[in-house]
Amino acid sequence: MTGTTERAPRPASESTLILPRYLREAEGKKTPVGFPDYRSTALRAPLRTPVDLPQRLTEVTGPVLGEDRITDADADLTLRNGGEAVGQRILVYGRVLDSGGRPVPDALVEIWQANASGRYRHVVDTFPAPVDPHFDGLGRVVTDSLGRYEFMTIKPGAYPWGNHHNAWRPAHIHFSLFGRAFTQRLVTQMYFPGDPLFGQDPIYNAIPDEARDRAVSRFSLERSQDNWALAFEWNIVLRGREQTPFETQDDGDVA
Ligand SMILES: [Fe+2]
Repeated sequence: MTGTTERAPRPASESTLILPRYLREAEGKKTPVGFPDYRSTALRAPLRTPVDLPQRLTEVTGPVLGEDRITDADADLTLRNGGEAVGQRILVYGRVLDSGGRPVPDALVEIWQANASGRYRHVVDTFPAPVDPHFDGLGRVVTDSLGRYEFMTIKPGAYPWGNHHNAWRPAHIHFSLFGRAFTQRLVTQMYFPGDPLFGQDPIYNAIPDEARDRAVSRFSLERSQDNWALAFEWNIVLRGREQTPFETQDDGDVA
């Protein structure tokens, strides 16, 4: 963050540093954080207008993800603790793209999900469905040069969540994406096509009508693996990156 201390003159190489800038979301396009039918948002949605992060050196060049610590096993959620998880094996795959359709390489994609019975391995999950000792529901992968990711996992079950009488979440997988800048973070959920629980789910229905299909994966027989797993494709499209470089300090930035 910007301090008040006066800085020494920057060397020539730094003063010509060109940093990427990222489009800010237009007010009208921002996802609502409070949604009356999704009751717990009343307790956790910010009451004050969020403050946009400035786009200074730190914000546009971090984080260091430590991708060398990510192994192939992190992308296969079906084998944990020395055994096989129970449930329908599924391949979940796709690409991370910017608004121009260009691949986003080197993005950290993390997922978390319930097991086949609809139970999370988490201390606050009290749904009386079995915990699977061979499924922790956690995976991570870094996109390749074409922006591709894939996970082998188990089809998550629906689960009750107490929002209203007989409230059930449609089967879904939580996704977190981290690009190469702190301003590039996205948390979202992927759904499965034709889920009969969509109509009563206020989280799914909080998504604007025109965008709902983009939260639903596509079944792929072509990528399904004979005698092994079904496949679902889900491409994630990020906002485009504004290409205009800047050298001035119009965000109050002193790098
Ligand atoms: Fe969930």
